[in-house]
Amino acid sequence: MSPLLLLLLFKLTIAAAAPAQLRPGFYTETCSEAESTVRKVMIKAIMREPRSVASVMRLQFHDCFVNGCDASLLLDDTPTMLGEKLALSNINSLRSFEVVDEIKEALEKLCPGVVSCADIIIMAARDAVELSGGKRWEVKLGRKDSLTASQEDSNNIMPSPRANASYLIDLFSKFNLSIQDLVALSGSHSIGNGRCFSIVFRLYNQSGTGRPDPAMEPRYREMLNRLCPVDGDGNVTGYLDATPQKFDNQYFKDLVSGRGFLNSDQTLFSSEARTREFVERFSRDEDAFFAAFIEGMVKMGDLQSGRPGEIRRNCRVVNSRTLESHWGLEYLQKFVIRVPLA
Ligand code: HEM
Ligand SMILES: *[C@@H]1O[C@H](CO)[C@@H](O)[C@H](O)[C@H]1NC(C)=O
Ligand SMILES: *[C@@H]1O[C@H](CO)[C@@H](O)[C@H](O)[C@H]1NC(C)=O
Ligand SMILES: *[C@@H]1O[C@H](CO)[C@@H](O)[C@H](O)[C@H]1NC(C)=O
Ligand SMILES: *[C@@H]1O[C@H](CO)[C@@H](O)[C@H](O)[C@H]1NC(C)=O
Repeated sequence: MSPLLLLLLFKLTIAAAAPAQLRPGFYTETCSEAESTVRKVMIKAIMREPRSVASVMRLQFHDCFVNGCDASLLLDDTPTMLGEKLALSNINSLRSFEVVDEIKEALEKLCPGVVSCADIIIMAARDAVELSGGKRWEVKLGRKDSLTASQEDSNNIMPSPRANASYLIDLFSKFNLSIQDLVALSGSHSIGNGRCFSIVFRLYNQSGTGRPDPAMEPRYREMLNRLCPVDGDGNVTGYLDATPQKFDNQYFKDLVSGRGFLNSDQTLFSSEARTREFVERFSRDEDAFFAAFIEGMVKMGDLQSGRPGEIRRNCRVVNSRTLESHWGLEYLQKFVIRVPLA
């Protein structure tokens, strides 16, 4: 191989691996109906099953925290790659992948090969909040889809429902997310459900004490005891706040009254002054919550790995890696074929 060709290959690899410049309206020229198409499918989804939009919104968190917002989460396992779907925090828990598939199908019909699965997650999460009664915001787009996924990274990064506030503060700070971001983003639990599996330890054996979490309001705990008896079905679900289909600040009011579902929720009020301050503020001021939530979602959406990517045709599998699809036919003709002959 000629030195010139080597240099060109090297340069191209670097260019492909630099983080994409995200911006609003990224698809205005190339797929002007991209955002409205995502919203239409999300409306169908919420009518079919109200909870599904919460489940889709959660995907943004589980995608972005593990090597950036790159749809690595959506890849199915292959014989040579353990994906993230079966990671500790995801197995028997993440759901509504079929809604993402439906969005992708609609977009591939409209403008094939243009809109990334990573951007679909970001747009759909925004729509989930709006369709549940929250405020709409402008999303930055232009992400690429990963070429791989890591179950191990997901296991190491994603927090357990048992996590306490100081652990969560540290975790979020590793992603440059502030204490306000942590509390506001936890407010996503204003919609959706959680499983008994995620709370039995705090109902019956908090921190190995053989006792329930003392931060729980007694009547709320009795209700959860009936829902989730010892040795009951761990897949039974309860509501994450008192209004699980409405995106509002009820979640924070619930935390103030000891009615948080997960330990990782209640701990934000009950065990750490630095987070309690924000829980109290958001419980009184819904607009402040909405504004901080949007700021947090945009910051979380900015997380990128800087690794090379592609626009997947099917969100569950990487595109086939022929030389041509990787480098582009034009490039191959120009450099790989012509330069060495010259
Ligand atoms: C702060 C750390 C967080 C922890 C420890 C946590 C943990 C959990 C757990 C354990 C569940 C219930 C899963 C189950 O029982 O199957 C859940 C549900 C959910 N989480 Fe989080 N979460 C966190 C932050 C977030 C963030 C940042 C978002 C989104 C921005 C989010 C969105 C959701 C949604 C919408 C649901 C309900 C999903 C459904 O109904 O299918 N969570 N979370
Ligand atoms: C919070 O959790 C971490 C990790 O599990 C633990 O090391 C720490 O002692 C806990 N902090 C408090 C205040 O309980
Ligand atoms: C956090 O910010 C610092 C300084 O701006 C930057 O070097 C680092 O890469 C950021 N970390 C993440 C995970 O974005
Ligand atoms: C509670 O947890 C501790 C430590 O994990 C364990 O040793 C103990 O047997 C558990 N108690 C009950 C009643 O399950
Ligand atoms: C939940 O259901 C799945 C199968 O649908 C099963 O494999 C799993 O063990 C169940 N989980 C719990 C905690 O009961």
